[in-house]
Order: sequence, then structure tokens, then C-alpha cells
Amino acid sequence: MSKEKIRYFIRTFGCQMNESDSERIAGLLGGTGAVKAERPEEADWIIVNTCAVREKSEEKLFSYLGRLAQLKKKKAVRIAVVGCVAQLRGWELLQKKAAIDFVLGPDNEAELVALVQGDAAEKYVSTSWSKAWHETSPNLIRRDSPVSGYVAVMEGCDNFCAYCIVPYTRGREKYRPLRSILEEVRDLARKGYREVQLLGQNVNSYQDPDSGAPFRGLLKDVAAVEGVEWIRFLTSHPKNFRPEIAEAMAEIGKVCRQLHLPLQSGSNAVLKRMRRGYTKEGYLDIVSRLRNLMPGISLSTDIIVGFPGETDLDFEETIEVLRRIRFGNIFSFRYSPRPSAAASRLEDSISKPTKQRRLEEVQRLQKTIQLEDHSRLVGQTMRVLCLGRGHKTPHLFSGRNEGNQVVNFRSDEDPTGRFVKVRITGFGPFSLIGEKTS
Ligand code: SAH
Ligand code: SF4
Ligand code: F3S
Repeated sequence: MSKEKIRYFIRTFGCQMNESDSERIAGLLGGTGAVKAERPEEADWIIVNTCAVREKSEEKLFSYLGRLAQLKKKKAVRIAVVGCVAQLRGWELLQKKAAIDFVLGPDNEAELVALVQGDAAEKYVSTSWSKAWHETSPNLIRRDSPVSGYVAVMEGCDNFCAYCIVPYTRGREKYRPLRSILEEVRDLARKGYREVQLLGQNVNSYQDPDSGAPFRGLLKDVAAVEGVEWIRFLTSHPKNFRPEIAEAMAEIGKVCRQLHLPLQSGSNAVLKRMRRGYTKEGYLDIVSRLRNLMPGISLSTDIIVGFPGETDLDFEETIEVLRRIRFGNIFSFRYSPRPSAAASRLEDSISKPTKQRRLEEVQRLQKTIQLEDHSRLVGQTMRVLCLGRGHKTPHLFSGRNEGNQVVNFRSDEDPTGRFVKVRITGFGPFSLIGEKTS
């Protein structure tokens, strides 16, 4: 008797680590013979990969789950909630949202295979952490991009920044064996990938569990894989960003002149209460070291406004640092208290309107900086890795330059997966516009 293939749909919230996990999940499910559905309405199984990092992330999830509950009234569908909110809330999720069938933490996602195959009827929660690295055969992973591949190198975080929930959702740091990382990178190279993005919550503290080789050793070995031409990594922590890492970046040609280095605040008093382990001066030192070694390096950062007790003067210091450094890009957030995080025991003293005003000020300033810096690029020709087609318009493609800026450009033929030269003809605050010249 032939059975119809199971169709699955995955919705991913959160960071690149979650996107990468969803690609693994898609691969594992594909391995059972299940096929991907383009819309939740067409699926037998819906996997929701979740993020708990801010209050808003959870709110977005709950409104999505509300919509799925409506869908479930109309058709039989299994709903599995996985990832960081699953880890954090566990059984509570099943109690709150009757539509959910399964809850699996980041270390338990592979159990989906047995659930899908077993026609499981019972509700089920699994959120135990394991110290071992979960190997997934590189061949199985179903990636969204045919050009740039995510490769997880570590998971978890031991930093316990006062505002952050991640150590409670991803657990303590664990490092992936270097040989397993290299196996995946070689597999990507064989498949024609040109860029790899090494992922982890705190990549700089990486150490090969077998040999003890540090992060810069990892960079060297990944760079030695033929075929891969650009290497990026995130996230770096200023506290662990040793001078040797900057030197390795400068030495290894394949490592992009680009770094995401979360600052969070420009005020030493706030940084201290955030338990970040560095000062504004320390951060500025890293930036000058990077810029001395790699002139033109493109820097991006994360900023939190409205951390408990942040005064107008503290906030002004953040603005001042943003003006000084002129980041290529920033991700800015209003502080929200998170369960378990140390700062949730402090009074959330900054009012919502003040947080909002500060957020808008940061974003306004940054937009001006980006527009000014982008305007200087008009007329220049730069190397761009084409990632695929742009939005609907024919002959319009999208890629990124070495600095990780988005470049949308015209080309008569499809250069997806290739490095092309693009002459910049226009710009917006968040992207550049150009024409392919070769
Ligand atoms: N491991 C990464 C990811 C952290 S989450 C890192 O260390 O950068 C990404 C960003 O979310 C953080 O850098 C921080 O700016 C923001 N964030 C984390 N917790 C937050 C909270 N409780 N409120 C507001 N923003 C938060
Ligand atoms: Fe969270 Fe800090 Fe760890 Fe980043 S370094 S994941 S902000 S605790
Ligand atoms: Fe969110 Fe978990 Fe990533 S909380 S930011 S999905 S590690």
C-alpha cells in the first residue's frame, strides 16, 4: 500500500543559529521521506523554531501560534514548537496553547524524526541538555542558500550578561570538533558554496575539544579548504576578542574585513551593570586595533537602550560612541526583562516612551551615518558575491560585498554563486544599488 508523503512546513524566528538549526531539521525530516510544504495550510506537520531573546520575540511567537490554532480547527495538523522558547517554557507551552503537540529544546530537535515516523499520538516535551555535539551528516542538511552556508562551530554561552536569556535557552558552551567542522566546510566547497558563516553565541571562545586549538586555528584551517573564498563569523564578544584574533583576520586573506561586535552600551556604568566585562575604552581600543590592521574594515554592532538605571547621560555616551565609531550597521533594541536573567531582578526603571525615544534617536543617527557613508561609494566598483535574484524584477540581483553590505544590481545574465564587479550608482540607508560591469 502506498502512503502519501508527509508534508512539513518550518517557520523560523530568531537568529542565524536558529536558521541553521531549521536547515538541519529540514534535512532530518527530508531523510524520513517527508517533503517541504510552501505554506502551513498545505502541511501535515508544522515546526515552529522559536526565539526567546526579547519580550517581543515571544509576543510574535504567541500571535503566530494563535493563527496556527485557528488552522488546526480546520484541518488535522501536528504542531511542534522547537528552539529557545521550547527550552525555556517546556510544559507550560502545552498548557497555554492546546494546539501544540510537541515541545523540543535545541538539543532535542532530532527527536522529530521518531515523532514524524511514529505517528505519535501523545503530547510530548523534551528539553534536556546534552554535553555532546549533535552531528548531522552534511549531506542531509537542506540549506536555503546555494551560495553562502552556515556552519555551527559552538553552541551555548557562559557569559551570563545580566539582561540575557541565551545561557538559559542554549545552555553552557560546547564546542564542535574541528574535524567535524572541516568535514562540513569541505562538503560545502564541493557543492560550490563560495562563502561560509561560522556560527556560535560566543565564537571567540572556541577551542577544539580534541586538540585544544583556539579560534584562530579554526579560521586558518577553514581558510585552507579550497573553493571557499569568503569566511565570516559571528557572534564575537569584546571580552574574548583577543589581539591574536584581529591579527589572524588580517593575515588570512579569505576572512572578510568585517566584524559584528556587540557594544550594547557606551556607558561604563551601564556596561558594568550589564556584566559585559569590558569598558568603553577597551572597546574603542579593539576598534582602533582592527582599523589599524585592516583599514576600511566594516563593523556592525548591537545596542540595547533603556537598561535599568540608564540615565540621559549614560544614553548620551552611547550616542557619542556611535558617532565616533560610525558602524556600517547596527541592530538596536529596547531593553525588556527576561526570566532567569539577573537584570530581571532589577526594577525595569526606564519608561516605555523613554526607551522608544532613545531607540528612535539611535536609529535616526545611524541612518544618517549610513546614508553619508553610502553616498561616498557612488562611482566605486566593488567585488560582490551574488546570492540570487532580487525581488521579482527581472535582471535584478542581490548580493553582499566584503563588508557584508547588501548590494542590489542589474545584470543581463544570472550570476548567482559568482563573484562579480559592481559599479555603485545609487544607495539607500540599508543597501547599495549598482550595475554589474564584469
Ligand atoms: N550571542 C549573541 C546573541 C545575543 S542576542 C551575542 O552575544 O551577541 C542578540 C542581541 O539581542 C544582543 O546582542 C542584545 O543586544 C539583544 N538583547 C539580548 N537580550 C535582550 C533583552 N533582554 N532586551 C533587549 N535586547 C536584548
Ligand atoms: Fe547573551 Fe551575553 Fe552570551 Fe551574548 S554573550 S549570548 S548577550 S549572555
Ligand atoms: Fe533567540 Fe535563541 Fe538565537 S533566544 S537570538 S533564537 S539563541
